[in-house]
Amino acid sequence: MRIKSALLITALIVSHSLLGQKTTPTIKEESEVPQYVLPQLLKTKKGKSVKTVRDWERSRRPEIHDYFAHQVYGVVPAELNYHKAELMDYEPAALGGTAVRKQVNLHFKKGEKSIVVPVLMYLPSGSTNAPVFLAYNFKGNHSLSADTTILVDGKKVNQLTGEASKNFNPSSRGERTSRWAIDKMIDAGYGLVTVNYNTVDPDKNDFSDGVHALFYAPGQNSPKKNEWGSLSAWAWGMSRVMDFLETEPLVDQDKVVLMGHSRLGKTALWAGANDPRFSIVISNNSGCGGAALSRRRFGEKVSDINTNYPHWFAKNFHNFNENESALEVDQHMLIALMAPRPVYVASASKDPWADPRGEFLAAQAATPVYELYKKKGIETKEMPAVNTPIHESVGYHLRAGKHDVTDYDWEQYILFADQHFK
Ligand code: GCU
Repeated sequence: MRIKSALLITALIVSHSLLGQKTTPTIKEESEVPQYVLPQLLKTKKGKSVKTVRDWERSRRPEIHDYFAHQVYGVVPAELNYHKAELMDYEPAALGGTAVRKQVNLHFKKGEKSIVVPVLMYLPSGSTNAPVFLAYNFKGNHSLSADTTILVDGKKVNQLTGEASKNFNPSSRGERTSRWAIDKMIDAGYGLVTVNYNTVDPDKNDFSDGVHALFYAPGQNSPKKNEWGSLSAWAWGMSRVMDFLETEPLVDQDKVVLMGHSRLGKTALWAGANDPRFSIVISNNSGCGGAALSRRRFGEKVSDINTNYPHWFAKNFHNFNENESALEVDQHMLIALMAPRPVYVASASKDPWADPRGEFLAAQAATPVYELYKKKGIETKEMPAVNTPIHESVGYHLRAGKHDVTDYDWEQYILFADQHFK
């Protein structure tokens, strides 16, 4: 009897720990990638073939977008615009006289709650209608450049104490310059518009702060299952900055290139899918939940991302942990939602966690939608060698090196934008 119950308890413990185990081991070899079938881009849920741009735009695109919105990233529950754009700084001769610097705080308010989103802009001197790269940064606007006049969290730094806010660490100033080829952009005639993503929604598993909290009904303290996680909130933020850029006379609103790295590359793709005002969308090393095909399960998997970052996606997306084949979409469909606008997917050779091959295959598999528009996507099924970019309406490169944003990446993005804007 005792032995029996001991066995029963052991069995219960084992099965419980198996149930609790959310992820399987990481796939690191191409030979371990499971067989999979991608959901068809050009066939509607009802099984109708999509043969024209009209079919795509009227039926297939909306159903794919809707699925990503409700099952993957989460819907934005209501509308909200900024009510004040406060000019904090204007310097006509920044960066050694090559650029105009502007800093603007965007204020959002609903009921008792509010957020402030500080925007930093460098625009080429002498240009009145510049194309721009719009990109979130991870560590604060002041991390982009050693320029000491960059506000910290939208506030002037106290010259005596060096402090702008309790979180300000003076050594973070200029800490990320290597990721921002500002001089190259300005030389090529592009401006840069950037925002710290944490100002829209702090990147932590806590829905009590950031923009989500502005939208809650009384008593609500987290989004509903089909509502926005943080990625969707950050994507919303990019659209609100776009609203502001439409009013900014120094910026050409028809030439706003949305770029993002890693989690912010996932964000850029979702923002680009939602908002056609972004003329070009660039995903740099975005990986799982970004450009990489989920069904390959190579590197980071859906279950890893939902376990480690439970706040990024809609709660509904957690239903697909270890169950990717149940998704009605895969990430090639997200890329296809940019069509016919140019889209660029970039990978890095030493970034297996983001599955470079899965990113390439997704970009390639988005091609049929570009072809409906008589645009060239990626024709080859062969992954290009390192540092051999493809710049058609779908762009791709595999940069040599690690998970990062480098000058090489920016050089490609500038060339790509030049090619499509000129
Ligand atoms: C982690 C995460 C990735 C993400 C990356 C980043 O590695 O697993 O999904 O892209 O962080 O944003 O830097």
